[in-house]
Amino acid sequence: MSLSVEYPDQGSPSFPPGFQWGVATASFQVEGATQERGASIWDSFCRLPGRILDGSSGQVACDHYHRFPEDVAMMVELGLSAYRFSIAWPRVLPLGYGRVNTVGLDFYDRLIDALCAAGIQPVPTLYHWDLPQALSDAGGWLSRDTAERFGDYARLVVDRFGDRVPRWITLNEPFVHMAFGYAFGVHAPGQALMLDALPVAHHQLLAHARASEVLRAAGHEVLLTNNCTPVSPVDDAPDTVAAAAAYDTLHNRLFLDPLLLGEYPDLSAYADPETGRTPLDRVIRDGDLAALRGSVDALGVNYYNPTLAAAPAPGDALPFALPDYTELFPETPLTGFGWPVVPDGLHALLTSLRDRYGPALPPVHITENGCSYPGEPDANGVVADPDRVAYLDGHLRALAEAIADGVDVRGYYAWSLLDNFEWAQGYTQRFGLVHVDFATQARTPKESFFWYRDAIARARG
Ligand code: FCB
Repeated sequence: MSLSVEYPDQGSPSFPPGFQWGVATASFQVEGATQERGASIWDSFCRLPGRILDGSSGQVACDHYHRFPEDVAMMVELGLSAYRFSIAWPRVLPLGYGRVNTVGLDFYDRLIDALCAAGIQPVPTLYHWDLPQALSDAGGWLSRDTAERFGDYARLVVDRFGDRVPRWITLNEPFVHMAFGYAFGVHAPGQALMLDALPVAHHQLLAHARASEVLRAAGHEVLLTNNCTPVSPVDDAPDTVAAAAAYDTLHNRLFLDPLLLGEYPDLSAYADPETGRTPLDRVIRDGDLAALRGSVDALGVNYYNPTLAAAPAPGDALPFALPDYTELFPETPLTGFGWPVVPDGLHALLTSLRDRYGPALPPVHITENGCSYPGEPDANGVVADPDRVAYLDGHLRALAEAIADGVDVRGYYAWSLLDNFEWAQGYTQRFGLVHVDFATQARTPKESFFWYRDAIARARG
């Protein structure tokens, strides 16, 4: 289904002065060069039969490790003010602790230097799901030790790069990592623990707190990025409303309440009916919540789509059901991934965060937003992707509206610069503004690339 692009008839959305325009990538999804670093849980997961849709791996990916100068040149052409990338923990610390891989540190040095020389702010994420395999073998995020190791890792990289990097993101999407990696087993490390995955939330948050302390002591700005979704009940029956609240708690509040309010939300929907306790209660220690409270200077929000919730069927393991968006709204266009395209969801999300957290909500950066659609270069090298243009246009308009409604949003990062390794989907979902031919590594900017370049220029006036 093709959306029509109505720009410029509606006029340009307006953004505050100094608003940051970026793109985002992640180490495992783009770097390749896996032999030059320690093993991560994603290397192992890719080797398991049937886990990655096209049987692929991150071995070469976009070869960003070697081709970053070409990629930075494209960022310059876009007119970006910031580039969000992630540091692969096992590239700098092959085991996650101890011996340092100087070749890995040198790579990020070169990348950061190239960005600074181009006037683009480097915004690293310390953890975008590629846990060192050795730490996973020792318990991974089920173990509290991983959080302590993360603090040491943060110290190493801030000592090395802090002279050029003022803003840091500790974690990417701890909700998705917990849910897909540890509860349902569809991402690395492939554990299907269901509610016993809840300690993964706490240990990731604690890791963030440890890193935040290190980063702030060195005078840096600290963000944590979660995947956030506005959740709506499919009807107003009390069971449905309760199911929507339970899902919202798990996806959004479990991660944001401790950071912004210093407390976990009411998790009684997930408690053992006999003991009234959840697996999270086993791992929280005195002082943990105090360390979390206020530990972000700004909040990273990744938004892709809204969520509809319904009451669970009798006997379901979880206190909610998630019906397909299109069952209720069959007119809603879908991305190549099958995700509903609902730009207003971004506005609803941001205003609901404002209403929920009030003055406790720090400035927000949209650290990911984008869509996958298939699309290959034609005979003239043109990659026409009107659906992506419409997606970006709609979401930037919704964002501008949220800003006009008083939400303090400071930046927007399109996901992603390049078509890349889309986790369990391998190379089958193309999210890039730039097409990548994975056989030759040829990069071809799509029409959306030029559209984004022009949208940034217009927004800057
Ligand atoms: C997000 C991930 C990112 C990418 C997009 C499509 O959940 O953070 O790495 O895969 O989805």
